[in-house]
Amino acid sequence: MNQSSIGRRFVLTTWGESHGKALGAVVDGCPAGLSLCEEDIQGYMDRRSPGKSPFATARKEGDRIQILSGVFEGRTTGTPISMAVFNEDMRSRDYSNIMNIYRPGHADYTFDQKYGFRDYRGGGRSSGRETLCRVAGGAIALRLLADLGIHVTAYTKAIGPVACQDFDESQIANNFLCMPDEQAAKKAEAFLYDCMEKKDSAGGVIEGRITGVPAGLGDPVFGKLDAALAGALMSIGAVKAVEIGDGIQAASSLGSQDNDGFAWEDGRIVKTSNHAGGILGGISDGSDIIFRLYVKPTPSIARPQESVNKNGENISLEIGGRHDPVIVPRAVVVAEAMAGLVIADALLCQASSRMDNLKKLYQKP
Ligand SMILES: Cc1cc2nc3c(=O)[nH]c(=O)nc-3n(C[C@H](O)[C@H](O)[C@H](O)COP(=O)(O)O)c2cc1C
Repeated sequence: MNQSSIGRRFVLTTWGESHGKALGAVVDGCPAGLSLCEEDIQGYMDRRSPGKSPFATARKEGDRIQILSGVFEGRTTGTPISMAVFNEDMRSRDYSNIMNIYRPGHADYTFDQKYGFRDYRGGGRSSGRETLCRVAGGAIALRLLADLGIHVTAYTKAIGPVACQDFDESQIANNFLCMPDEQAAKKAEAFLYDCMEKKDSAGGVIEGRITGVPAGLGDPVFGKLDAALAGALMSIGAVKAVEIGDGIQAASSLGSQDNDGFAWEDGRIVKTSNHAGGILGGISDGSDIIFRLYVKPTPSIARPQESVNKNGENISLEIGGRHDPVIVPRAVVVAEAMAGLVIADALLCQASSRMDNLKKLYQKP
């Protein structure tokens, strides 16, 4: 399968299927000397795991990450970093009833059309479980960024019709939904219990902020930073739209409202607002990068749905197996990982884009 890699200098390649022996990731291009151990990555993996949340699949995913190469005595060696998670609790039987059926909203039909057959156990590569590889690779990128004072934070902005009205960062880890607003989290939980009762699922919005990004990341024309971020974030399953800064609201705004002014402050240029979300002309402008992901409801629902089987019959499908009634909270850390990968890659590319950078490294005294 092509296109399992992302990045130009900091390159993540992922492999493995939901119900195969293992899933994993290879990060190539990580500079030598970054302090790294399995526990650094495990913290991110645990945030993606269903854990004890009533709003996540009941599948028990221990997801213990193992580093197989590229790290020695607690530091990266500059060689490819291979990581694997061996699958546990695989109940492939749950899926035998859908091997000849297409789940509405999922990738079954398109995979069959493309390859002629598919790994129907849990959706194979199209499963949400594939995202654990992104999180493993992204955790390394986020660690590299943290060493440079760059931080990525994402959280749930809305679930179904319930949107956050408040922002209290300390709340994000305090509720199953990763919402920075306690009251909104309570309302969203009640909404989700109702959805589950009706054997239905819900979607929502993830918002993220990247702080500490220097101006100058991203390349004009086809390597624009906003295009790279949008591509990386849209590649997460179930994400239907991505915004940077004011996003779609900019289309109904006026130039006089949308433009961010400039001002001198303490001898440096700053922007007086941030409608652009930290990117101008595809290049970071030094202010926070703001992004938003719009996530559809989980396609696998237990309600009867119209579908077809391969015997040419129209059928009513009720999906068994274990599924997330909402994808958003589990995808928050995936969004952080993908954003981290894009920024780490852009940083490494930028290091070689100017003569003065090269002179700092190589010019003879
Ligand atoms: C973290 C995560 C968990 C997911 N869990 C499920 C799930 O339990 N059941 C399901 O049907 N889809 C789940 N999905 C969504 C499917 O992977 C996705 O909808 C499917 O591959 C079709 O792709 P599309 O929605 O982008 O068109 C999950 C996605 C993510 C990112």
